[in-house]
Amino acid sequence: MLIKVSGAAVQGIDAYIVTIEASTSRGIRFFLVGLPDSAVKESHERIISAFQVNGYKFPSSQIIINMAPADIRKEGAAYDLPLAIVILASGGELDTSTLDDYVIMGEMSLDGSLLPVKGALSMAIEARTQGFKAIILPAQNAAEAAVIDGLKVYGANNLREVVDLINLIPGHIEPLDKNSVLKEVIPTGYQADFADVKGQNAVKRALEVAASGGHNLIMVGPPGSGKSMMARALPSILPPLTEEESIETTRIHSVAGFTGNGAALITERPFRHPHHTISNVALTGGGTNGQPGEISLAHNGVLYLDELAEFTRSALETLRQPLEDRSVVISRVKYRIEYPASFMLVASMNPCPCGYYNHPTKECHCTPTVIERYLGKISGPLMDRFDIQCEILPVGFDDMSSERKGEASASIRERVIEARAVQAARFSDEKGLYCNAQMDSRLLRKYAKAEPAAIRMLGEAMNRLNLSARAYDRILKVARTIADMDKSDTIRPHHIAEAIGYRSLDRASWGK
Ligand SMILES: Nc1ncnc2c1ncn2[C@@H]1O[C@H](COP(=O)(O)OP(=O)(O)OP(=O)(O)O)[C@@H](O)[C@H]1O
Ligand SMILES: [Mg+2]
Repeated sequence: MLIKVSGAAVQGIDAYIVTIEASTSRGIRFFLVGLPDSAVKESHERIISAFQVNGYKFPSSQIIINMAPADIRKEGAAYDLPLAIVILASGGELDTSTLDDYVIMGEMSLDGSLLPVKGALSMAIEARTQGFKAIILPAQNAAEAAVIDGLKVYGANNLREVVDLINLIPGHIEPLDKNSVLKEVIPTGYQADFADVKGQNAVKRALEVAASGGHNLIMVGPPGSGKSMMARALPSILPPLTEEESIETTRIHSVAGFTGNGAALITERPFRHPHHTISNVALTGGGTNGQPGEISLAHNGVLYLDELAEFTRSALETLRQPLEDRSVVISRVKYRIEYPASFMLVASMNPCPCGYYNHPTKECHCTPTVIERYLGKISGPLMDRFDIQCEILPVGFDDMSSERKGEASASIRERVIEARAVQAARFSDEKGLYCNAQMDSRLLRKYAKAEPAAIRMLGEAMNRLNLSARAYDRILKVARTIADMDKSDTIRPHHIAEAIGYRSLDRASWGK
């Protein structure tokens, strides 16, 4: 008799259905074929143990199990559950009439209790696309998958619950209710609030513009000027994720194995701040299993690189392509995976090794060559990709000692949300586009219409500051955001003027 059970494999953020078929014949051997890796082969031992603990019989005949398609690599222990089910069905312990309705995935411990798997959300999406009626997952993954409409999602704690469900034993587990799952999302508190940042109004404004349009931003300034503090406050003014963005982001975190704790969707924009000793693979993704890197984990959120000049040059250069494409392709001998990587890059650094170049009161001891070499660690093309570059100086004693609170993050965030609403309406026909920073040059020509006087002003600035063509686009983009914040359809000269002001670090003008 041939029994089929469907499971799923994940490559990148996409899942593929894997059919697990078992045929039984006389004999006592057990074969597993179809490119399973060693962790899948070890399933056999775990299944035997789980059957013993739960009182299920392992069929006494010969079983050949094939996992198809053979060309998709099947990794890890996540196939324990579908393998156990196909074996039980082969031994006649299961009602096979509804088996075709399900995609089943889960890792199993020796006593048959289920452990979370990676990529559950992507599996649920593929299961629905392929017309399955339901998916059975470990309970910890169920909330994450339950946000998908049109598919029943069952969360099981152990093998017995799955067997009882398939055999329709009264009292079997019920599918999760999407509404109850979404209500369980609890927003966490933010690390810092702009109300606690004294003075620094120009930098706060720059951060508000960046948050409004999703622009990359770099802060350069001496030690203790509040760069790290303000970067940490940035998440508190970012707009909430749309449902679509939320699903995209959760898929990536799910594949990385960061979900599976019973939580549903990720509803806050990610804020990733890797240390400067990070390896290139950890930053962009890869490794033996093609895991997503920090840039993909920051998708729809912020990648914050503190002390930018301390990162290795090669790590920084690997960021250039993803920043342009908003996705990253990882090619290795065994796989080729594309991950989304649309993030806001926020960076901070000192202007020179001693940190006091350009400081109003402290003297800088670095020679001009040393200063140039320090900034030279950031290549021109990377520096170009920061739409907003701001110099930051420490606040004076008066500001610092004043008791006056700054504007609270919550009220800044309201303005940011309004500016994003303007952009959402503008890009309603452009799939996957949410904010101005994501416009390519074609869309920029279409949407960033500037008054003639504004264009003239930009042309003059280009010549005077010797800006690159990419800088031209960046200025237009930022000006588009400033105009949106101003509720203006066209870009006016003062919008351009502010945007030009955010190119203060461009090579040609820096330090002169
Ligand atoms: N504008 C400010 N308002 C309130 N506190 C401030 C301000 N600027 C700096 N501080 C205080 O100074 C501390 C140091 O700031 P922060 O660590 O952000 O500096 P930094 O610019 O990142 O310095 P470094 O270059 O050494 O990393 C902060 O924790 C904060 O307490
Ligand atoms: Mg710092």
